[in-house]
Amino acid sequence: MVRLIQFYSPRGLKLSRAENQYVWDINGKRYLDCHAQYGSLFLGHKNMKIINAIKEQLDKIYGVYPAFDTDVKEKALESLSKILPKRLEYVYFLNGGGEAVELSLKITRKLTGRKRFISFINAFHGRTMGALSVTWNPRYREGYDPFPWDVKFLPYNKVEEVEREVDDNTAGVIVEVIQGEGGLNEASIEFLKAIRESCDKTGAQMIVDEVQTGFGRTGYIWAYQYAGIEPDILVAGKSLGGGFPVSLTAVKTELGEKLAEGDHGSTFGGNPLALTALTASINVLLEDNVVEKTVQKGSIFKKRLEEIKYEYKDVVREVKGRGLMIGVETRFDPTEILKRLQDNGVISLKAGRLVVRFLPPYLITSEDIELVVEAFRRILNQIREEQKYKPLA
Ligand SMILES: Cc1ncc(COP(=O)(O)O)c(C=O)c1O
Repeated sequence: MVRLIQFYSPRGLKLSRAENQYVWDINGKRYLDCHAQYGSLFLGHKNMKIINAIKEQLDKIYGVYPAFDTDVKEKALESLSKILPKRLEYVYFLNGGGEAVELSLKITRKLTGRKRFISFINAFHGRTMGALSVTWNPRYREGYDPFPWDVKFLPYNKVEEVEREVDDNTAGVIVEVIQGEGGLNEASIEFLKAIRESCDKTGAQMIVDEVQTGFGRTGYIWAYQYAGIEPDILVAGKSLGGGFPVSLTAVKTELGEKLAEGDHGSTFGGNPLALTALTASINVLLEDNVVEKTVQKGSIFKKRLEEIKYEYKDVVREVKGRGLMIGVETRFDPTEILKRLQDNGVISLKAGRLVVRFLPPYLITSEDIELVVEAFRRILNQIREEQKYKPLA
């Protein structure tokens, strides 16, 4: 019997169906899905607009190598023009976030002729070798060196370090606007502006990885918009295809024009089903006012979690994040909280060592938010009573 390699610790739950913001296990128990496949189901499970579009495309043509033209590809590019800044005129489609990061690094390395990258402490950009080279967590890097180029990890949000370290030898600076896997740390406006300015001064490329933050999740189509800057290269994935695997690397005109046949490629990247999912997802994003709804719901969710913070100061350190990418930083390992939330019908995920993270679909309701908040409160009371935690110093 073939067995799956256990790269993830099992949640002890067998799921059988899903709809909107909910999933059900094989016994018929319903859960609010604030994991949503690492946030990629931001537009909801079984979003019928996306499903119907994919079904229709399945009956037409679903496998085309990228060298052939299709209506689907034209439509996807046209739809993307509505959500990408004019500056990022060229895109290439891939399947997952790591692959798209990989391409962003390859382009930067090749077109600058430089070999040094700047990334940040707690950054996560994926598991392929290039993406891993700019991923900070020593647990993920251990045993896989040497990496393809020289990477320096700077402290996040330290403007002086950026100004000092980005120089004429720097190929690119890769940054998440909110560090997702690294603990929901939010970049300050000054920090993002300092990266932008240092890149402009030195000819280094600013790569913004919006695989987790992008496509409406933070209450902006792209999270970098809150800083009023634009990147040279944007990387997106996860929710772009409504849960269907599709990612992209978008590059500014000057870079895109220099790329040529053979510089990169992919068998499945940009296949007709993925691009259909992308176009349908962009339609949902714009037509259903997803960004506005995310701002509203996110602010209610955050406010309610902040109330918990004041009631449980001995346990909760901070409420973090923006839009519907939010979490609660605890003063101890929150694994037990995650487990009990799941028992209480709420699926969440960890960020960094200490944060209980919520990445729900934008369809989450006020009742759902109350469910989470009440479950959280109940669990904190139980844990307090059982003295199940040791507060960190
Ligand atoms: C910011 C960021 N970049 C890249 C990735 C890698 O994406 P994927 O798992 O689709 O390869 C992730 C995944 O969590 C991510 O959060």
